[in-house]
Amino acid sequence: MNTPPLKNTTKSYGMVAIALHWLAAVWIISLFVLGLYMVDLGYYDDLYKTGPYWHKAMGVLLALVMIGRFIWRGINPKPEIAGSAPVKKAAEVVHTLLYVWVGAVITSGYLISTADGRAIDVFGWFEIPATLTSIVNQEDIAGVIHLYLAVGLISMAGLHALAAIKHQFFDRDGTLVKMLKVTRNV
Ligand code: HEM
Repeated sequence: MNTPPLKNTTKSYGMVAIALHWLAAVWIISLFVLGLYMVDLGYYDDLYKTGPYWHKAMGVLLALVMIGRFIWRGINPKPEIAGSAPVKKAAEVVHTLLYVWVGAVITSGYLISTADGRAIDVFGWFEIPATLTSIVNQEDIAGVIHLYLAVGLISMAGLHALAAIKHQFFDRDGTLVKMLKVTRNV
């Protein structure tokens, strides 16, 4: 029995890229929902402390997943994007922007959490130390930026998902299936 390919080819995504794509997508959406939920919690709510703790620790781990994913992307062939030259170019720009945007959301979150000089504890496994703490009102400024960037990221990811669905069901070019199913020998 042939095992499904781990690596991408110029026509299809391999198992690793597909797994990392959906892991990151679920992770980002979960962090977004938890982040919005946390904002309204009062001191006596159960999640008042654990919510932000999980949000920060999972945000740091997401950064590691995204770095791993970016490296994996760099050492793999890029499957060809379906469509005309401008569509391909637009998709490439959006894919790159999604990486940059995730990085910006995580960085702004880091600047909120470490504004008071305290490190971020990641489930007791390791800590991410504070570095930049000298901006006046850092926590508030980074907080506003973090919220707007997060809303922007989810909106961009939503448009990206709609584009994939349009390609799959209107243009019938197999774009969504390419990110769902590992294809052998292509
Ligand atoms: C926060 C959520 C998401 C992020 C950050 C994201 C990011 C990305 C990135 C960076 C790529 C380029 C390939 C790579 O580097 O792995 C990609 C490809 C793709 N994504 Fe997403 N994605 C998200 C959610 C979704 C959703 C919800 C769908 C579909 C409903 C989707 C469908 C696809 C498809 C079909 C491709 C392959 C496009 C092609 O190569 O033609 N993505 N995504």
